[in-house]
Amino acid sequence: MVKIKTLIKDGMVVDPANNLRKTTNILINGNTVEKIHPKINPREADVVINAEDKLVVPGLIDLHVHLRDPGQTHKEDLATGTMAAAHGGFTSVACMPNTTPVLDTPERVKTLVQRLKKEAHVNVFPVAAVTKGLEGEVVTDFEGLKAAGAVAFSDDGKVVQRASIMHEALKRAEALSLPICQHAEDASLSCGTVINEGEVAEKLGVKGDPDISESVIIARDIVLAARTGGHVHVGHISTERGVTLVRRAKQMGIKVTAEVTPHHLLLTDEYVLKAGPNAKMRPPLRTQRDVEALRQALADGIIDCIATDHAPHAAEEKNVDLADAANGIVGLETALGLVLTHLVGEKVLSLEDAIAAMTYKPASILGLDKGMLAVGKDADITVIDLNKKWTVDPEAFFSKSRNTPFSGWQLTGKPVLTMVGGKVVWSDESINIEVVNSDKVS
Ligand code: DOR
Ligand code: ZN
Repeated sequence: MVKIKTLIKDGMVVDPANNLRKTTNILINGNTVEKIHPKINPREADVVINAEDKLVVPGLIDLHVHLRDPGQTHKEDLATGTMAAAHGGFTSVACMPNTTPVLDTPERVKTLVQRLKKEAHVNVFPVAAVTKGLEGEVVTDFEGLKAAGAVAFSDDGKVVQRASIMHEALKRAEALSLPICQHAEDASLSCGTVINEGEVAEKLGVKGDPDISESVIIARDIVLAARTGGHVHVGHISTERGVTLVRRAKQMGIKVTAEVTPHHLLLTDEYVLKAGPNAKMRPPLRTQRDVEALRQALADGIIDCIATDHAPHAAEEKNVDLADAANGIVGLETALGLVLTHLVGEKVLSLEDAIAAMTYKPASILGLDKGMLAVGKDADITVIDLNKKWTVDPEAFFSKSRNTPFSGWQLTGKPVLTMVGGKVVWSDESINIEVVNSDKVS
C-alpha cells in the first residue's frame, strides 16, 4: 500500500505527556508520526494541512462510551458512535459491555473486534463484562476476554454488588494487569431512586439517591484493591465523599484511579428542573458542593481523567415522565467545548491539564500506548480552534441520539479536524487541506 505523507503545518502543538508547547510542524508517514520539527519542507509531503492559529494535540481518548451495538442500534451503532467521537475530537474510545447480548464471552469480543475493523471510524477498545450477563453472580473468562481484545472489565450500568465477586474479579484482573471500572452505586440504597436526594427530588415528588450509595461502594472497593493489589477504576465519580476516599486511598498507595464526566463537573440537580429527563443519569447530578469537590480533585490530579459516559437513548425513551425516562446523556460531541469553555475558560484547569485529562491519562489507565505526540507513535491527532464560538445544536450531532442537557449552550473552542492513524476522518470547512501530490493521493 502507498504510504501518504501528511504535514500538519504551523500549529501550536501542545502535548502534556512530553511537556511540549510550541509552534511547530508534524510530518506523518502512513499511520505514524515521522518528524516533529519547526522546519519541514512542505515538498516532503503529499498533503498539507494548514494549522496556523490552531491548537494541535494528541487525539482525545474517552474511556467510557456506550456504542449500543449490537442490539440497541436504534440508539447508536458502531459507525454513528465513532463518527460522533471523531466529530468531538476523539480518536480512541473504550466501549462498555452493556449491549444486547452483553459482551461477556471471548467469541463476542472477537466478533466485535472484527466488525470494528470495517465499521468504526476511530479506534475502539472493548471493555468486557465482569460478570456473566452483568448479573453479578459469575465472573467471566477474563483471560479469554483479554486475549480476544478486552482492555478492562466493567458491569457498567450496574454495580458489582457482592464483595466476594468483586474480590475475585480484582484478583483475577490484577493477574492480567487490567483495571476494573466500577459503576459505584450500592443497589440497596439507590434502588427505586430517580435523581439526587434533596430538595429537587422532594419538589418533584420522586425518590432521591443518597450520595452514600456511591461512597460505600468506593470504600469497599478500595479495601478490596488494597487486599488484592488489583486496580479499581471509579467510573463517573459524582460525590465529595467519593473524592475524599479516592484521595486517601491514593495517599496510601492503593491502586485506584477515577474519571469524572463533564456533566458532573458543570451541573447540579437543580438543572433537572430545566432539562427534565435530559438531565437524568446514573449516578445523578449532585449538589454545588459536590461539583466544587470534583473540580478541585480533577485540578489536583486526584481524579485522573475526564470521560463522557456517552449514553445515547432514543427520543421515545426520554420524552416520558422523569421517573420512567432512561438514564444517561450523549457526551462525545460536547465534551471538548464544555471543558474548554467552562473548565479552562474559568481557570479551573490549565489548558495542559485539560488536554492531559483527555489524552495520556486515560490512555495510561487502560495501558494503551497512545495519548502523546512522538516520533514513531500512531498519528492520532486532533486540531482545535480555541476561538471558535458555537452553539450546541443536537440536530447537528453525528450520534443517532439527541439526549443532551446542553442544547443551546454557547461554547468557545471546537475540534476542527480529527486524524486517526494518519487518516483525516473528520474536518470542518474552516481547515485547509491541500493535496500537493495528486499522483499519490486519490
Ligand atoms: O446514566 C447512565 N447510563 N449511567 C450508566 O452507568 C449507564 C448508562 C447507559 O448505559 O445508558
Ligand atoms: Zn455507569
